[in-house]
Parts: sequence; structure tokens; C-alpha cells
Amino acid sequence: MDLSTRYLGLDLKNPLVVSASPLGLDLGNVRKLEDFGAAAIVLPSIFQEDIENEIDEMERLVAEGNSEAFSYFPAHMSENVGPKNYLDLIRRARAAVDMPVIASLNGTTRTGWTDYAKQIEQAGAQAIELNIYFLPTDISQSGAEVEALYLDILKAVKQAVSLPVSMKLSPYFSSPGHMVKTLDQAGADGFVLFNRFYQPDIDLEELSLLRDLKLSHKGEIRLPLLWIAALAGKIKGSIAASSGVQTAAEVIKYLFVGADVVMTTSALMRHGVGYMKTLHDGMVADLNAREVGKLSDIRGRMSRGATSDLGAFDRVNYIRILRGGVHSS
Ligand SMILES: Cc1cc2nc3c(=O)[nH]c(=O)nc-3n(C[C@H](O)[C@H](O)[C@H](O)COP(=O)(O)O)c2cc1C
Repeated sequence: MDLSTRYLGLDLKNPLVVSASPLGLDLGNVRKLEDFGAAAIVLPSIFQEDIENEIDEMERLVAEGNSEAFSYFPAHMSENVGPKNYLDLIRRARAAVDMPVIASLNGTTRTGWTDYAKQIEQAGAQAIELNIYFLPTDISQSGAEVEALYLDILKAVKQAVSLPVSMKLSPYFSSPGHMVKTLDQAGADGFVLFNRFYQPDIDLEELSLLRDLKLSHKGEIRLPLLWIAALAGKIKGSIAASSGVQTAAEVIKYLFVGADVVMTTSALMRHGVGYMKTLHDGMVADLNAREVGKLSDIRGRMSRGATSDLGAFDRVNYIRILRGGVHSS
């Protein structure tokens, strides 16, 4: 069976990609994930804050005219600061596996940190995933300003590198599809739909904020499913589905609506990296049962552009559901 696909211009042996997570910090895991069937991996993010700390420190040393300190800078920083270690991680991951290694750059404003993308390219990453984890809690900031920020950062990173750049987006735009289209036209090479926002809860006993991180569940595929179905075939960039994959069934559903690749983290963290093989074999078994010879036979068959059941994606379905009652499962 031909499982091959293309993502960000990269040829992948199948559509299973490990999304950004601490799993990528351990090269033993990275090798096993490839052996168990992963076709590419996104390394955990390097954050704007890490990069700017390093830039601040360099500027301080230069301003002090401390050339001795400056020459000693790389070794000194490598002990505990992220950016240099991150470049090492990229190099080591590239050397450890054949599958493409995608770096993840995570920031929220357009400043000097975007130049770090060049170093990521030099370190050997095959693509950059840009995660603009931005919470517009300043209520004077308009939606148009927020969207302009995303465009600005994308353009700055694209200017800095010749690598393909994907945008990992949240669904919280007033018109998510239009936002994707705008970024697509501005040169984004792909989209990761969607980023998951980690919302705090309240501990009522302690009256404190809970900052715990919950792994996803399969119900979370529905929002990305809707938007991938709406976008498939309508943009130049490729589409990665992300959120809620727990079994091969979610992988297959994402492919049906038009995802080029399907990403997973929670399932691997919950069951261990060996679970990649379960996902892979489950996907193959499902496609065999459907007598599918190649992935492209099913990809996008249930996208909005391909299905005649458009009502399922629209307001008419909403009204029907509200009138028809709920299923408790
Ligand atoms: C422990 C943990 C760490 C993560 N670290 C990152 C990160 O560094 N950068 C990023 O873009 N996403 C990060 N994510 C988000 C995942 O890449 C993914 O988008 C999210 O978990 C939804 O996918 P899933 O349902 O398959 O888990 C992290 C998720 C988890 C659970």
C-alpha cells in the first residue's frame, strides 16, 4: 500500500507525524518513534523568551567591553540556556534519524528573536513550525491587529530562512478560514490545525490557579475536523491535523477530510512511544479493509468541497441537532 504523502514540500513515507512535545528531547525516543512508524517529528518549541534572554546576555557582555567574557560566552551559556542546546538537539536529531526533523519556534512579537530561525536552518532542521501562542487579553487590541501580528511574524521568519515554514494556529479567530487563507497567500507553507490552549482552572480549596496540563481526548478532533474539511483543496499550503488523536480511527477521519499529515502527542505520552506502531498498524488495517491502494484515494473525500452532504458542516445541521436532542455518549 502506498502511504506516502507530502508535507511542507517534504516527501514522507506515511502521514503520521509526532507533534511538538518533550518526547523529542530524548533521542532514544526519537529513534524508536521512527522505528515504530513515525514519518517526521516536530521537536519541542524553543521560546522567544529563551532566545531573548540569550540576546540580552550577549548585549550586556558586549556593552561591558568584556571580550574575555564574550569569547567564553558559548560554553558558559550552553550549561543552562535554551537556544544553544536547541541547535544541538536539532543536529543530534538529524544525525539520529532519517525522517525529517521540524523545529518549533514559539513567540508572540516581531523582534530580533526571529533571526534565530537562521540558526535553526544552519543546524539542519528541514522545516520550521511557527507557534504564535498569543492570548489577546488586552481588550483594546482589535482582531485586525492580532491578525497583522501573525502576518508580521510569518514574514519576518520567511525572510530569515529558505526553509518551509508552517503556522500552528489556534481556532480562535473571528474567521479562522480567512486567517489561514491570508497566511497562505503571504507564503506560509503549511498549517497545523489546531494549537491547543492550556486554560487555567481554579482550586476551590486552596483558592489558587491550577496550571496543570491535561492530555487530549478524542472528542477534540471535531473542531479541527470541521475546519480542515472547509480548507482542504482551497489553499496552496499543506495541512497537518493536530489534536485528539487517540486511535487509528481519528487518523483516518482526519485523512478523509483532507489532512496531508496527522500529528499526535497525547496518545504517545499516555501509552508510550511504542503506541506509534499501534496507530500505524491500525491505519494500515483500516485502509486495507477499505481496499484502498494509496492514501490519495481517501484523502479529502469528505472535505467540504468533495461531499454532497454540505448541511453537515453548516448552520442547517446546527438547527437540526438542537431540535433533535443530544446523545449522552
Ligand atoms: C507535555 C506537552 C508538551 C507540549 N509541548 C509543546 C511545545 O513545546 N510546542 C508546541 O507547539 N506544542 C506543544 N504541545 C502541544 C502538542 O504539540 C499538540 O499540539 C497538542 O498536545 C494537541 O495534540 P494531541 O491531542 O495529539 O496531544 C505539547 C503538548 C504536551 C501534552
